Amino acid sequence: MITDKIIEIKNLTHNYQKNHPSIENITFSVSKGEFIVIAGKNGSGKTTLFKLLNGLLTATSGEVFIHGKSVAKNSIFARKNLGLVFQDPDTQIVGETVFDDAAFGPENLRLPRNEIKKRVVLILKKLGLFHLKDRNPATLSGGEKRRLAIAGILSMNTEILVLDEPFSNLDFSGTLELLSYIKLLSNSGHTILIATHELEKIIFHATRLIIMDKGKIIGDDKPLKLIKKVEKFGIKEPCSSKFGMGIKKWEG
Ligand SMILES: Nc1ncnc2c1ncn2[C@@H]1O[C@H](COP(=O)(O)OP(=O)(O)O)[C@@H](O)[C@H]1O
Ligand SMILES: [Mg+2]
Repeated sequence: MITDKIIEIKNLTHNYQKNHPSIENITFSVSKGEFIVIAGKNGSGKTTLFKLLNGLLTATSGEVFIHGKSVAKNSIFARKNLGLVFQDPDTQIVGETVFDDAAFGPENLRLPRNEIKKRVVLILKKLGLFHLKDRNPATLSGGEKRRLAIAGILSMNTEILVLDEPFSNLDFSGTLELLSYIKLLSNSGHTILIATHELEKIIFHATRLIIMDKGKIIGDDKPLKLIKKVEKFGIKEPCSSKFGMGIKKWEG
């Protein structure tokens, strides 16, 4: 199948338990370079959707395609193209040093040593982690750990980045740092999907907003078109929008 859509999600349904769909009949596609925020209250199905995108979960029915290839049938191809950063970065740490941790993915791809080293150095520098390369990841701050989880994904050269609740447990400065790196990655051509219930922090930068509720998509449009409706679905409307000033940058 030839397509200009980088991700295609078709009639995707997933049940953890019989007849209790956690997501139901989800259909949408993503073009290269989009920056999509998926908002929904707890339990609306965001994490389940993300795990289906990279083949960590298998759909009950429906299918996900990345560059036209079925994720269920090509999970290695899917993971080379789509990197999923989990909500809790601790679950993603595998190396004893920051460098080894970021190198883990490309080592599994059995790339040549020189190539791995070049890639990892570049990415650690890009994410402001190079000076920490010999540190034990367990000793990093929350923001540094989150960036290391992203570095581990970027070192696989994935063009699609999927971030699940990236701002949880980050303080103000950690959030500011992360925001600036996410913007950098978007500007350098990555396609980005972010799940969050904290719209305010990120929505200014998004090109598209998808609202999920009870496992279904109930809105998919430009952020300004949907922002006034979010509170009906248990998501906080950004203050600027509430006060009639549209969508403003959270970071000032
Ligand atoms: N491992 C699991 N087993 C059974 N039900 C689950 C599991 N994970 C999530 N669910 C259920 O699936 C629904 C969607 O959850 P989830 O995708 O985690 O939503 P969100 O990420 O938006 O909070 C919820 O009703 C949740 O209770
Ligand atoms: Mg979740």
